[in-house]
Amino acid sequence: MDELASSVASSLNSSPAFVKAFSSSSSSCPAPFSARDALVTPATNPAFGDYQCNAALKLAKPMGLRPRECAEALLALIAEQPAVAAAFDPPTIAGPGFINLSLSERHLAAAVEAMSASPARLGVPPAAEPLRVVVDYSSPNVAKEMHVGHLRSTIIGDSLASLLQFRGHDVLRLNHIGDWGTQFGMLLEHLTESGADLEAAGAVDLVAFYKEAKKRFDEDEGFKTRARETVVKLQSGDPSAVAAWTVLCAASRREYAKIYDRLSIRGLEERGESFYNPLLPGVIEGLGPLAQVSDGATCVFLDEKRFKNKEGESLPLIVKKTDGGYNYATTDLAAIKQRVETEGADRVLYVTDSGQSQHFQMVFAAAAKAKFVDPSKTALEHVPFGLVQGEDGKKFATRSGDTVKLKDLLDEAVKRCAADLLERAGEGAEMTDEMQRTAAVVGIAAVKYADLSLNRESNYQFSYDRMLSLSGNTAPFMLYAYARIRSICRKVAEDGQTWEPGEWPDVAGVEVLLEQKEEKELARGLVKFADTLIEVERALFLNKLADYLFDTSQRFNKFYENCPVNNAESEELKRSRLVLCVVTAQVLEKGLGLLGIDVLDKM
Ligand code: ARG
Repeated sequence: MDELASSVASSLNSSPAFVKAFSSSSSSCPAPFSARDALVTPATNPAFGDYQCNAALKLAKPMGLRPRECAEALLALIAEQPAVAAAFDPPTIAGPGFINLSLSERHLAAAVEAMSASPARLGVPPAAEPLRVVVDYSSPNVAKEMHVGHLRSTIIGDSLASLLQFRGHDVLRLNHIGDWGTQFGMLLEHLTESGADLEAAGAVDLVAFYKEAKKRFDEDEGFKTRARETVVKLQSGDPSAVAAWTVLCAASRREYAKIYDRLSIRGLEERGESFYNPLLPGVIEGLGPLAQVSDGATCVFLDEKRFKNKEGESLPLIVKKTDGGYNYATTDLAAIKQRVETEGADRVLYVTDSGQSQHFQMVFAAAAKAKFVDPSKTALEHVPFGLVQGEDGKKFATRSGDTVKLKDLLDEAVKRCAADLLERAGEGAEMTDEMQRTAAVVGIAAVKYADLSLNRESNYQFSYDRMLSLSGNTAPFMLYAYARIRSICRKVAEDGQTWEPGEWPDVAGVEVLLEQKEEKELARGLVKFADTLIEVERALFLNKLADYLFDTSQRFNKFYENCPVNNAESEELKRSRLVLCVVTAQVLEKGLGLLGIDVLDKM
């Protein structure tokens, strides 16, 4: 799609009339006409084609033409472009002046052949401008519960990082753990006073430990005072306080590691809030006159309307509390500075719940104002997600109302999946090791896919039944579709003499024939893999990838129902259809892999 937009743009730029009209059309879009101005988008209605070019509507007025006339003039220009002429059926005009573009059969066949020739990329080009991207995700808090919100952040962040990496960006995955702050006073004091042995792995329930400490802090004045003194000790680097803090962090780390291991989260580097502690005084200094003292606290006031209350007063972004301590916002400002200056970040993604939107918008605005970041060079993007709710739409909790432990949640998904498999194996069947292994993969896949297949900004209702269902847009459905294609490929490869039995039947160099409608429609779906990933890379909605994979497997089913592979009329057709099978399976495998989901060859 990007190439198409570029060729439309270059054909317009070769026409003096358009350049003139375009440069006078609006001051915000200087000539030359750019690929973005070509307004090439996926067709809103697939019946009209694959893409549409909406440029005529914008250009008509400055050209002194009616939109349809303008579209005709554009059509004449772009039809002369060799790239357009080769890739599309003759373009048509619809409605007030949209230009519809449908990929030609020749192009579709060639594109699928290219995908099969290069299974590592499957038609997805590496980004033209590789960026240094920081993805800040997961980020639980020491000694506090790692909750379903952190689970969402982990799943979404990991998948975005993988996708950006696949596109060739240089990705740094950071775990911004909450391992610093005043709460450590009470935690460390409680640790010392209770003599708990956190070093004995798993011996202490950290969540209960946090609750006990908090209870004492709220009820016992003496404890409160000692806790406050402990914070000061910790901040001044007192060796015994630091040693206790290290033990506490290590105990938490062991807990997270178990969850990361279950979810196959790799490459996530821990860089908690404590890392930025030495940089905090520099933040206040760097803010200069922007840092104003108000009611004893140091604050940054932002003038933009979105940061004002109903009375028109600016909301303060507190960077130093009345007690002199720094806070969450100060750390995030320090992190921005460090990520820009030291990491050389071009793009930073923050994957957290939408409850933190205001925090990030204010921090980003303050960082720009203080020139810690140049927004035209580094994009800071909050990637918000909604709440996880129970099936009743209320808070996600156990039957007794307690918060659900992540380990229990994952265990439950695997357990239910194993039970499903056993039931499907028929009466009297016994649980096998293979069923257990399958359940371990499918159960985790179900939890991930249920999250990623929904628009992340919506709240999502957690339902084991729904996520484990074999029908609909679910992980079991997708994994089953993949395993089925795998088995079709195996069978075709075995029956014919043409292919050696191997990982994949060797289809390199086989010509793709798209005679039947279903073959063409499958190919049309397959070749959109690249567009889909590029769109997710831009707007960061992974459900677009899940939708695409679901759609592709449905196109495959229609193809398989109508186009026999093994009993195709000719050997050429059989080979061509096998290519379609293999490429479909590879697209599903790659796409699911980017969603953090392992496929199974058999199910
Ligand atoms: N620890 C925070 C929480 O549990 C999330 C941190 C997100 N990252 C950041 N740079 N603020 O909500």
